[in-house]
Amino acid sequence: MINIAIDGPAGAGKSTIAKKVAAKLSFIYVDTGAMYRAMALYLHRNGISADDTERIAAACTGAEISIEYRNGEQVVLLGGENVNPFLRTEEVSAMASKSSAVPQVRTRLVQLQQELAAAQNVVMDGRDIGTVVLPHAQVKVYLTASVEVRARRRFLELQEKGEPAVFETIAADIAERDHRDMTREVSPLKQADDAVLVDTSDMTIDEVTERILRIVEEKTGLLKGDSNV
Ligand code: DC
Repeated sequence: MINIAIDGPAGAGKSTIAKKVAAKLSFIYVDTGAMYRAMALYLHRNGISADDTERIAAACTGAEISIEYRNGEQVVLLGGENVNPFLRTEEVSAMASKSSAVPQVRTRLVQLQQELAAAQNVVMDGRDIGTVVLPHAQVKVYLTASVEVRARRRFLELQEKGEPAVFETIAADIAERDHRDMTREVSPLKQADDAVLVDTSDMTIDEVTERILRIVEEKTGLLKGDSNV
């Protein structure tokens, strides 16, 4: 199986890019953040507080999380229920940010991620894919962008939706999340030694996609001679 790992901080464009790369290669796109969010939803529904590490560690084994693909979209099932519509709320984001640091949560989800990658060709994005989940991935990319650029992208996205947005607050939130992701004890966000760094600050989505497809070609021989890459 061919495994492509894409890691990086929040807002670097991982999911947009990973989806495009997967579509181009006819690989499956695995969004591991959505799995941490589904676990967070389960904990939230069970009335567990985000700071109660002990209860999170005990309760997480009861969550039945699985993944399906419907019309090419990843659907996260929690006890058989499609929970995709509930994964992007503020409560779930806040819970996921804390519960994803609990080792028992990670052990369960990493196992599921490794099973998916062993069964099919995948493009998987997250924080620890190249370092912990798929250390033998043939292609590893560390996608990043400056805090200012990521904040600006988020600001414009909110403005477009007509939602209130203050640039300084967004930038401060991003910097704080980076710090939390990079300094946590278990599986902190960091570039794998053998990952290729791609800074998307001054690149368009198409340029980043093309750059990654070139890296894939170089490392795997796939796409050779495909002039549409
Ligand atoms: O990428 P995202 O915002 O959907 O991720 C949700 C949360 O899960 C976020 O707090 C980071 C965490 N996460 C993680 O710890 N490891 C991963 N492989 C993916 C996400």
